[in-house]
Amino acid sequence: MIRIRPEVASIHPYVAGRTTAAVAADIGLAERDIVKLASNESPDGPFPSVEGVVAEAVMTANRYPDNAMRELTPLTAQHLGVESDNLWFGAGTSAILREVALAVGGPGTSAVFPQPSFVIYDLATQLAGATGRPVPLDGDYQVDLNGLLDVIDETTSVVYLCSPNNPTGTLTGAEDTRRFLDAVPDDVLVVVDEAYGEYVTDSQWATMVPEAVRRPNVIVTKTFSKVFALAAFRIGYAVGMPATLAELRKVQAPFTVTTVAQVAAAESLRHPGELARRQEANAAGRRGLEAGLADRRVRYVPSQANFVFLPMDNPSAMFQALQGLGVITRSTPGGLRVSVGSDAELRRFFEAFDELGLV
Ligand SMILES: Cc1ncc(COP(=O)(O)O)c(C=O)c1O
Repeated sequence: MIRIRPEVASIHPYVAGRTTAAVAADIGLAERDIVKLASNESPDGPFPSVEGVVAEAVMTANRYPDNAMRELTPLTAQHLGVESDNLWFGAGTSAILREVALAVGGPGTSAVFPQPSFVIYDLATQLAGATGRPVPLDGDYQVDLNGLLDVIDETTSVVYLCSPNNPTGTLTGAEDTRRFLDAVPDDVLVVVDEAYGEYVTDSQWATMVPEAVRRPNVIVTKTFSKVFALAAFRIGYAVGMPATLAELRKVQAPFTVTTVAQVAAAESLRHPGELARRQEANAAGRRGLEAGLADRRVRYVPSQANFVFLPMDNPSAMFQALQGLGVITRSTPGGLRVSVGSDAELRRFFEAFDELGLV
């Protein structure tokens, strides 16, 4: 028997949402009749001009990708209003979060994060051999900032803040977040995960990028998987001070961001009009989803992301019932998470919901 590190042996691996093909095979429907509202993906494909640049890049696959990301870096810097050396790219935010956990954590250290929140914070902590300190959300499904501060002690090396928070869609206001950053000790890294930042319409929120580029203990993570619709290409990034990023990225393997991911992301950034259109489409879809739930008197948490959380006692029964009708959602402890799909997908969701006679 091989010897596995005990902290790895005890990990319960991340369970990804099921694919439409797998569910279709299970319930005997055609794949086109399955609606996937499980993984907070974009209902639309990549920005239209991405197809051409990816096709062109395919035949360069014999060469390793550009590790310095010379095309993508200045475009992203311009998009955010930061310098190129404030950026660190990785194979999705998930990979960056693991690398951060490995760089700052280890046996004898602790990591603080809200719960429920993005499960990778917990998994990455375990992988690093550190101790997780989950802090429950407050009664309004908001991240409890004072609760996070209360459990930080001299063992704590990192605290994660997810805003808007997955799975609840709730945000932490800009003023509160800045106060929180002031209160965290200087030697504790704060990771502000803004995977869903582009979907926010509430003016209380603001990106923490300007804080990350001036505070050595703060980074912001962002992704091309959501509003930029490149989830399958695996590309995300962290924003921070160059010296901070230089330490964290030592953990990363070289060439982890593929050429197709780089050119697709760069091309997407050249189309701010398309980005705005998709942000508006999500806001409209979210309003429609929330209105449909309100009409049916279904309890939901008002969302600032591309999904809506429905608190309920037995979310897995609801998940199963909807899946049986070809609608895949995500069951999480304490509720069901439903992504903002296209209009047609959301119509299917409500048809299934109504068919179940649950309202
Ligand atoms: C809060 C949060 N952060 C990060 C990610 C992961 O993004 P990526 O696809 O870049 O790994 C997700 C994906 O669902 C998420 O919910």
